Amino acid sequence: MEYYQIAIDGPSGSGKSTLAKGVAAKLGILYLDTGAMYRACGLKALKLGISTKDAEAVEKMMKDIKIDITHEDGTQHVMLDGEDVSEEIRMLEVSAAASDVSAIPCVREAMVDLQRKISEGKNVILDGRDIGSKVFPDAKYKFFLIADAEERARRRLAELQAKGVTDTTFEDVLKDIRYRDHQDTTRASSPLVKVEDAVEIDTTHITIDEMIDTVLFRVNED
Ligand code: DC
Repeated sequence: MEYYQIAIDGPSGSGKSTLAKGVAAKLGILYLDTGAMYRACGLKALKLGISTKDAEAVEKMMKDIKIDITHEDGTQHVMLDGEDVSEEIRMLEVSAAASDVSAIPCVREAMVDLQRKISEGKNVILDGRDIGSKVFPDAKYKFFLIADAEERARRRLAELQAKGVTDTTFEDVLKDIRYRDHQDTTRASSPLVKVEDAVEIDTTHITIDEMIDTVLFRVNED
């Protein structure tokens, strides 16, 4: 049997994870949030007090890291060295750390290997920055999400507030989004790019259901 992948790429806060989760539930396929893996690497560096920009120190750290992804009732859990860090990795300071370490080639190699391994032998929808360009360049379906930076910051702030975070401002989130947009698109190793065969969806003014329907329409066409 031939398995397929659905690649969802785009900048932070463009709606990738909401879309991917919704599509996975409708199609009954696996959803893999690849950003969570880079977040776990960033979190480990923060915990160890390693500079997230110090490629040599991060490379050393990567020799002794264990990241496992588990799924319970469709919800992804991220285990870092045996500890469930699914909540902790969502904090704002971890976002920038994840973006920093994700520019380091050995981190990318390890995460891409893990993503391919987890996806083996199943239909899967993955969200990230390099899914359609690097992880699964032959993915059957590719989408690239975009949205205004301010709208993306509003969404991220709402997510943080829903988790009980009260000391983060809109400006903090917007600054993080701009920092990561720049870094994630300009890094040398697998930068965020829209590949030619990806379908672009501007999510600024559309609802989640409309996003999901756009993807399902394409998949159901076949
Ligand atoms: O999707 P996210 O915001 O949780 O991702 C956190 C960071 O991880 C993001 O700023 C860049 C990096 N990342 C990446 O380089 N490649 C991916 N496939 C996913 C995330």
